[in-house]
Amino acid sequence: MLVYSLYFIFLLVVESVTSQHVRIQHMDVDTHHDVVIDTQTPHFSWQLAQEYDSNGYLIKDIKQIAYHIIVTKVINNEVVWNSGYVSSSSSTHIFYKGVPLISDTRYTVTIKYYTTQHQSQWYIAHFRTALFSLTDWAGQWIGSNNINMNQLRTVVTMKLTRIQSATVFISGIGYYQLYIEGQQIDKTRRLDVGWTTYQQRTLYSSYDLTEIFNTTNQLGIGIMLGQGWYNRQQWIIGPGARPDLSEQYGSPRVLMQLNIVYIDGTNQSIVTDSSWLGREGEHRYDSVYMGTTMDLRAVRSCWSCAKFIDPYSLWINASVLPSPVNFTAGGQLSLQTMDPIRIGPDALHIATSGNKGNVDGVQGGSLTDGGILKPISQDEVNGQVFDLGQNFAGWCKLSSLNAPKSTIIQLRYAELRYSRGQNGIDFAGLYYENLANIAVMDTVILNGTGNETFEPLFTYHGFRYLLVNGYDNINKDNIECYNAHSETTLIGNFSSSSDVLNQIQHNILWSQLSNSMSIPTDCPQRNERRGWLGDAGLSIDETLFNFDYVNFYLNFLTMISDNQLPDGSVSDTVPFTVGFSPADPNWGTAYVTITWYLYEHTGDISIIEKYYNGIQAWIDCLTNQHQKTGLAKMYFYWGDWATVDRTANTSLTSSYAYLRDVHTFINMSRLLNHTENVQKYTKLYQELANEFHNVFYNTHLNVYVDGSQAMNILALALPDVVPVSLRTNVLNSLINNIVTTGHFTGGIVSVAPLYPLLSIEGHHDLALKLAQSISYPSYGYMFHNDIQNATTTWELWNTLPQGATASLNHHMFNSIGAWFYRYLAGIELNGLQTITIYPRMSYDADLLSYVKAEVVAIKGSIRVEWSRTSVNTVNLSIVIPTNMDAIVTFDSLIKNGQCVKLMCDNEIIWMRGEMSDEIKLLRDINGVNDLSENKLRSTMSVRVASGEYTFVAYWK
Ligand SMILES: *[C@@H]1O[C@H](CO)[C@@H](O)[C@H](O)[C@H]1NC(C)=O
Ligand SMILES: *[C@@H]1O[C@H](CO)[C@@H](O)[C@H](O)[C@H]1NC(C)=O
Ligand SMILES: *[C@@H]1O[C@H](CO)[C@@H](O)[C@H](O)[C@H]1NC(C)=O
Ligand SMILES: *[C@@H]1O[C@H](CO)[C@@H](O)[C@H](O)[C@H]1NC(C)=O
Repeated sequence: MLVYSLYFIFLLVVESVTSQHVRIQHMDVDTHHDVVIDTQTPHFSWQLAQEYDSNGYLIKDIKQIAYHIIVTKVINNEVVWNSGYVSSSSSTHIFYKGVPLISDTRYTVTIKYYTTQHQSQWYIAHFRTALFSLTDWAGQWIGSNNINMNQLRTVVTMKLTRIQSATVFISGIGYYQLYIEGQQIDKTRRLDVGWTTYQQRTLYSSYDLTEIFNTTNQLGIGIMLGQGWYNRQQWIIGPGARPDLSEQYGSPRVLMQLNIVYIDGTNQSIVTDSSWLGREGEHRYDSVYMGTTMDLRAVRSCWSCAKFIDPYSLWINASVLPSPVNFTAGGQLSLQTMDPIRIGPDALHIATSGNKGNVDGVQGGSLTDGGILKPISQDEVNGQVFDLGQNFAGWCKLSSLNAPKSTIIQLRYAELRYSRGQNGIDFAGLYYENLANIAVMDTVILNGTGNETFEPLFTYHGFRYLLVNGYDNINKDNIECYNAHSETTLIGNFSSSSDVLNQIQHNILWSQLSNSMSIPTDCPQRNERRGWLGDAGLSIDETLFNFDYVNFYLNFLTMISDNQLPDGSVSDTVPFTVGFSPADPNWGTAYVTITWYLYEHTGDISIIEKYYNGIQAWIDCLTNQHQKTGLAKMYFYWGDWATVDRTANTSLTSSYAYLRDVHTFINMSRLLNHTENVQKYTKLYQELANEFHNVFYNTHLNVYVDGSQAMNILALALPDVVPVSLRTNVLNSLINNIVTTGHFTGGIVSVAPLYPLLSIEGHHDLALKLAQSISYPSYGYMFHNDIQNATTTWELWNTLPQGATASLNHHMFNSIGAWFYRYLAGIELNGLQTITIYPRMSYDADLLSYVKAEVVAIKGSIRVEWSRTSVNTVNLSIVIPTNMDAIVTFDSLIKNGQCVKLMCDNEIIWMRGEMSDEIKLLRDINGVNDLSENKLRSTMSVRVASGEYTFVAYWK
């Protein structure tokens, strides 16, 4: 009986395989309950379910052979696309090919796939469309140039018929929040809409309010507005900007349209116009940089309710204000397709199955604990100082405030605090020196009603310490702080036997989130927070291993492309507020790098197609610059920024970016079969490679330029630049320099290729030593010093006293995080075709004896776990998702050694013969094929199909 019922359960499991993690335009429907798209040709992706055999074992080698997709209009079930049965192994980025989708319409997509074993059940998902055309908008931008009109309201009177749908489209700049009948819509959403170059592109959001508008026939709508980035205070125009973009600020304003469809087919639109009433609300002042001032005496409860009457404050008609978008100059109002900034558990979805909470030995807040931080200590020094235990971006909410009317409480925030007696400093308090000239202060004036609450609005701070002034009764229980960032999913997981590497990983994750605030910012605390391209390009590979930020970076690419000039130049920052145009080549390279890594991590080739021409124009712009100066005098502004001695700005550094861009562009051209460009740019690359060597090679010293580490690293990292005959000498010179000085001396540009270079060139042991170093300067020093044990990555290798004004929360040094995944775990994604698992091994097993990592890619979860059980043995467990193959490579454990035996799932699959050198699998293990040996590198490889495998490799 027992046997029978188990069998029965097994049958059910197999019969019920369905698509999982279905994605529409990169949005996973599991984490996006209301998918809105702004394209007529969306693409769909899905994961194939795991399948298990009758013994409960995972079936290996599950491959798709066909799919079938049907898209219907919800309103009448009209089939707008029926793909039919399509023989294809492709399960990602399948483009819609039906009749054109129409504006503000709801659709259903149903997906079925077939494998060699089974066909799946139909999977049903929903999506709806945005307003495709400007003519779909009926309302006007409203606000006021006379008063600080930050609360606006109207009342909707509906027909006495039931509704089919109610949909809102809204853009409020700088920031807005939407309320219906006193309730905030989408409560965890903050700082919406995302910051853009508003004249070129202003974003709007959309909400499905069908359930709310299905209850009564009169409803009040309220909108709160904030200054956000549409504010002179934040706006400094960079040199070389487009003249038509020089004014980027004004009074806050909003455009809203509510489209109601009744079941009788009739429509009603409520739009913003001068009939709306507005006032200055309790929110008296807000600035992203400076903070908020809130006067709780001016709160009017339920001010967004239909029946609201206000005998105390003046509500006046809103004025119609100009659109922020310059349509004459080709500007656009477009849907915000990236996820919004959020707080709390909604801000960070967790896809990885691995570590929840902190890895043992790691200090700081746990990222997976729901995004709400509580103080870990309280101290009375010139006010009440609280330590949140983690540096991050966001703000704090105070509750249970009991004090008389008109009591003023101030909150100040800082990344660092002094302790009495520390470094000869004889006072205690928050450290404001690195905030530059901004107040970073939230102020609340109490109404005296008791049990009051204050949460700052339309601002955010980068901090670990909170100071509360003007209210001594505050205690830890009354404080809750929110980690704010663009919503995302944690898809990566990396831990190892090294506490230092684990702490670096922790600091990378937190600094990355702190700087993902609708654009990748440089830092969250001082008066900067700009979209510096250099920082974004350097951390993109690491970011995409850890977080699902595909749409976030697609938004950034669109902004880079919006800002590109006819001569191909892109700017150092977008929105272009500081820096130069054309950008320093190591900043502009982000255009190329971000595009490339988005492709590598998702396999979505349409991303390359979309930006291909723009990237070519940027490279041609660099070629024009090159023709004026040659590589010897190639222009630069920032160079290898933040080197140890803060000097290494050279033309070699910018030439490196230029050559790298050309090389990546050749790869892109090859993928798109643009043969002419492959030839043209390959020729260019060869010429540039020769010139690079000729002008930068120092024949007296046999090194590049002055022989500094950075110069040699950048030359060696470029393919075919250093002649084969000189390569070993240059490499040895670099190695000697690192060993002699005992540390790395370069900056953000050269640190990125350093670690991969050492691992590839046979110096993996040195790479591991360097990465785990804790003395100055090193990553480890950031959390092993007298000042503060960092929980985020610093801006500079040092901080106080030398780097006194530097940020303690930057992501531009986070490139090492990509090396963790690509070289320590050995996961190379290769556009999700045949991926590579090639963990690098040190000869000294004590340097790193264990790594566990996971990446949840579009096709499923890739897992790698390895441990060195002895000097000459490694255990390697891997999981490869369905519909995917992997080449697994075993790295040499012993210098000049060779692999002698391979086991898979407890069976010997190969042994080195005494007599013959034949490399052939001894056993036919399902899913394992194509054993080969690379004698030059002393590695062994096998090809595996989807499934779980445990290997043991023995070396002699
Ligand atoms: C609106 O409410 C009615 C009554 O509760 C319900 O039958 C109908 O399905 C609802 N319509 C929508 C679109 O939610
Ligand atoms: C503020 O306090 C006054 C009494 O001073 C009270 O009438 C009013 O309702 C309070 N406002 C709110 C929003 O609680
Ligand atoms: C809009 O752009 C056009 C063309 O670039 C320019 O002439 C005009 O001054 C701009 N309008 C505003 C309001 O900035
Ligand atoms: C104080 O207000 C909170 C909501 O903000 C409520 O949950 C709590 O019960 C109130 N406490 C008292 C003592 O009224």
